[in-house]
Amino acid sequence: MNTTIFYFTGTGNSLKVARDLEVELGDAEVSSIPRAISEKKVLTAERIGIVYPVYMFGMPLIIKKFINQLAADKNNYIFAVATYGGLAGGAISQAASQLKRRGLKLSAGFSVQMPGNYTPLYGAIPEEKQNQEFARQQQKVKEIAAVVREKKDKLADCGSFPVNLIFSCLLYNLASPRIPLMDKDFWVNEKCTRCGICAKVCSVNNITLIDGKPNWQHRCEQCFACLQWCPAEAIQYAKSTLGRKRYHHPQVTLEDMYSGKAL
Ligand SMILES: Cc1cc2nc3c(=O)[nH]c(=O)nc-3n(C[C@H](O)[C@H](O)[C@H](O)COP(=O)(O)O)c2cc1C
Ligand code: SF4
Ligand code: SF4
Repeated sequence: MNTTIFYFTGTGNSLKVARDLEVELGDAEVSSIPRAISEKKVLTAERIGIVYPVYMFGMPLIIKKFINQLAADKNNYIFAVATYGGLAGGAISQAASQLKRRGLKLSAGFSVQMPGNYTPLYGAIPEEKQNQEFARQQQKVKEIAAVVREKKDKLADCGSFPVNLIFSCLLYNLASPRIPLMDKDFWVNEKCTRCGICAKVCSVNNITLIDGKPNWQHRCEQCFACLQWCPAEAIQYAKSTLGRKRYHHPQVTLEDMYSGKAL
């Protein structure tokens, strides 16, 4: 296998981008980051891709953990793709810095705009707008694949210095250490049918069921999969998510999500 594309996803955007890259590149496979961490997977691919959503203008905490465990050396060609809703900030620069600390190089980095999924701030955008973003995403994947195929150096979409300083450094460094505990604001209302999907869809196994209802265990990544995939829309976050339209990528299924879970 020439390329392994590792992904982390809450609502399928990053998985869709990883899969489209897999098809476009050929001789590639996608692999879940939570699963790879739990399996302590040894890498053999020449090219390594890391695809992840932007959180707080930076990387999800699990991406830092993954990079720290990555079995790679200077001969590997490493590229990153960050999917984002509105402003990617320094999410690619953060991956480059983290790899550098390990003596590794991020050769290419891109961001791809997708529908936002941060329901505490907004509901899902209309389907027509989603489809426009998906069409642009497919074009961008072709451009990324052309760079990766030739193993070119191209750090695109690294954000501007003032935005990265304020949002991706100051704000991110202040807020991100609190992410694992931020699940204390999740709650479940009377619509819960005790189906157990929320526990199954959490890729880092942060939810246990008590009397069939979810309890969050404070190892959260804030991916919002539990809230977005609950078929009864029973899961809420603080006060603002009631009545807001949920989102997940239309071509990603619950089975896809389950197959990427940490063991
Ligand atoms: C906790 C959280 C924080 C987010 N922060 C940002 C952000 O800073 N900038 C942005 O453009 N999108 C942000 N988003 C939106 C996601 O990056 C975007 O929807 C992404 O494509 C989701 O990918 P996924 O479907 O693979 O989980 C955030 C989403 C979540 C859940
Ligand atoms: S997915 Fe929703 S309905 Fe099902 S157990 Fe979880 S909270 Fe209840
Ligand atoms: S508890 Fe919910 S938000 Fe936290 S990691 Fe699991 S699915 Fe994602």
